[in-house]
Amino acid sequence: MHVILLGTAAGGGFPQWNCWCPTCRIARDDPSRARPRTQSSIAFSADGVRWFLGNASPDVREQLAQLPRVDVAGVRHVPVEGIVLTDAELDHTLGVTLLREGRLLQLIATPSVLRTIAEDSRVLPVTQAFAVVQTVEVALGEATPLSYRDGTPSGITIEMKAVRGDPPRFARREEVGHTVAAFITDTSSGKTCAFVPGCGGLGPKLLSRLNEAELLLFDGTFWTNDELIRLGISDRPASAMGHVAISGPEGSLAMLSDLDCRQKVYTHINNTNPMLIEGSPERAAVEAAGMIVGMDGMRFEI
Ligand code: MLT
Ligand code: MN
Ligand code: ZN
Repeated sequence: MHVILLGTAAGGGFPQWNCWCPTCRIARDDPSRARPRTQSSIAFSADGVRWFLGNASPDVREQLAQLPRVDVAGVRHVPVEGIVLTDAELDHTLGVTLLREGRLLQLIATPSVLRTIAEDSRVLPVTQAFAVVQTVEVALGEATPLSYRDGTPSGITIEMKAVRGDPPRFARREEVGHTVAAFITDTSSGKTCAFVPGCGGLGPKLLSRLNEAELLLFDGTFWTNDELIRLGISDRPASAMGHVAISGPEGSLAMLSDLDCRQKVYTHINNTNPMLIEGSPERAAVEAAGMIVGMDGMRFEI
């Protein structure tokens, strides 16, 4: 299975349009020291030709240019076979509306996420005004085979596990499955990519599941729990925003560094996170723990 990191920044991208925090300043002044990033999304494919998206970001149009070129005989070609959603946040779902020209789209998500985009953000009905949208409900804990748009099997299964966190601010209900870890498995090799761009905490059960993955893509939003408070940007700690911080004894770096996954990568990195700075002590700490700070365009094969 091929996995491409299409975007590795959290909501707002990096640098964020209205932000002049220290990291955003570096990204503008000297991008070689802190490389700009688009909002988090992945593409994955069993054959390297037909691709699914993991979340659809507002940057999806530019991001699709990172997929390998294909020879197209006709006048139209939809390079996305389906979109797997791990939550209903705007940075992960607005791209669905932007793919409305696709005529036939496939959305794969939990009942909670599908309900939220149907009733609360209305991303689903807005898209349905332009395109036929086939929704595939994934029950928590059940490995669900993915099909291509023509109905043929893709050789990939998805299993979703609810993770700690909060539903989007605009969600009118809090339901189990509003935010999930997606386990993407290539059935021919049996190898799994665990895609977890939003996660509010790591318990023993989730850790042991993540440990079985060959490739782990994990929530790298905040370095510290009080990151936005210290910068005077927000009064909410990371924990109140559904993101476990990276640093500290209870942080994700300490928890994930013991896992046996072949590759462990942070994605969904907020613009304030100091590990975005090349050569920073925070970057060095991540790498010393055997993890990778994700960058747009990174490719993995599992
Ligand atoms: C999040 O990751 O917590 C959300 O995307 C926040 C937001 O952009 O509103
Ligand atoms: Mn987000
Ligand atoms: Zn910033």
